[in-house]
Amino acid sequence: MFSRLRTAMLAALSALVTILALAAAVPQAQAASSLPCDVYAAAGTPCVAAHSLVRALYSSYNGSLYQVQRASDSATANIGLLAAGGYANAAAQDSFCSGTTCIITKIYDQSSRHNDLTVEGAGGAGAADVGAPADALPVTVGGHQVYGLEISAGMGYRDNSTSGVATNGGAEGMYMVTSGTHVNGRCCFDYGNAETNNTDTGNGHMDAINFGTECWFSPCYGGGPWVQADLENGLFQSNLGYSTNSSNTGTGAMPFVTALLKNNGQDHFALKYGNAQSGSLTTTYSGGEPTVNGGGYSPMHQEGSIVLGTGGDNSNGSIGSFFEGVMTSGIPTDAADDAVQANIVSVGYGGSTGSTGSLTPGSEISLRATTACCTSDYIRHQNNAAVVSAITSSSSTLDKSDATWIVRRGLASSSCVSFESRNYPGDFLRHSNYKLYRQPMDGTALFRSDATFCPTTGKSGTGTSFASYNYPTRFLRHYNLNLYIASDGGSNDFDSATSWTDDVSWVVSSPWVP
Ligand code: AHR
Repeated sequence: MFSRLRTAMLAALSALVTILALAAAVPQAQAASSLPCDVYAAAGTPCVAAHSLVRALYSSYNGSLYQVQRASDSATANIGLLAAGGYANAAAQDSFCSGTTCIITKIYDQSSRHNDLTVEGAGGAGAADVGAPADALPVTVGGHQVYGLEISAGMGYRDNSTSGVATNGGAEGMYMVTSGTHVNGRCCFDYGNAETNNTDTGNGHMDAINFGTECWFSPCYGGGPWVQADLENGLFQSNLGYSTNSSNTGTGAMPFVTALLKNNGQDHFALKYGNAQSGSLTTTYSGGEPTVNGGGYSPMHQEGSIVLGTGGDNSNGSIGSFFEGVMTSGIPTDAADDAVQANIVSVGYGGSTGSTGSLTPGSEISLRATTACCTSDYIRHQNNAAVVSAITSSSSTLDKSDATWIVRRGLASSSCVSFESRNYPGDFLRHSNYKLYRQPMDGTALFRSDATFCPTTGKSGTGTSFASYNYPTRFLRHYNLNLYIASDGGSNDFDSATSWTDDVSWVVSSPWVP
């Protein structure tokens, strides 16, 4: 009898062990497929807004991500996903916008709140915004070529009639994936809670993540860009006063940055940042609300609208990049933030599509000079200009990255090509006054033309020459280590006929940084 009892107890114990093991395995299996809003919902702080140009933020989401409008006939199309819980169907955009240009007119909220963002109207500090060009920021996410949102001055999105977003001292969290390579020091590249009337209504009426190099005001530490809290009438890094935090020197020019803010609306806020391509989050501040400027931040007075790309009063001199972002109801736990960062890292944000060394769009390349003087010189950017300089295997990673370009379908003509910077996503090689620069694509017809080059057999008989799309008798040429579009003889020194055929002939080679 005892032996039967022992056998039964052992069987029960074994069953219990199996159940416990299965129970332990289940959350892991769920975590593996949990996208940011699944994570925050499971932690009791559900998303009340979930915006992304590049992927689903719920594993079950299979709706539209954003809407584009094309210039040729003003028709609109919704861009969705390749699969539920997956990545943007950028090919649908390419096909709809083929032969014309498109702007982004709406960014859908994936949460059940439907807090969709549309192009922002006029505000206290800025005229009505315009939509961002839909193809200005090609990147890869999850191995798929997709488009991020590239904001230039005068662009912004907003929803002034939201549901579920914190108001009047409510607690909330938010994050966005942005870029440290396309920033400026003007007001105010924000994502988060703002006024409902596009006007500055006073301290504490905003609670938004700010990202850029705007120092509000000295002293600021390091060169930025910083993740800051725009709480209205001030960008804050702590409660010591505005952008003040001696231990926060900024993220530097990381191509993909996770920026995070949470605020209990009463007496505490926290800021974090991380590299969206690897590693974990760093908390730069966690403490009391600011008291400067007459106070008014404790408690907060959020109004519950959502802004993206401008300040609360539509101050719209700022630039920035946006790939995805969410806002939650309630303060997320640090564990949930960590799980979200792990998920962001896991999808593999990147600047290219992997193939190398050819002029096929998506390929990464380096362009080597062929003139006898300079056969170790490559086209690279330096201080925003494009130049040639010697790059060797012992060059620094920075120099090699500066000398690597991603071939894109020509911004002005699909039968030509454009060159996107490897380490500055969204920045392209373009000419201006015949000289070459690395600049962010602003969507204008002029930029598109200036950044488009048409390959032809090398004029010297070696390699490839690149005719300027809008000045077809001028070719990409190095001259005194600078880069120009030059004609074969002409009034400018860089048009000199001497060694022109060699100077305009380039070897399309394997990328220094694949
Ligand atoms: O708080 C900084 C900025 O100040 C806000 O975004 C804007 O509304 C005001 O000009």
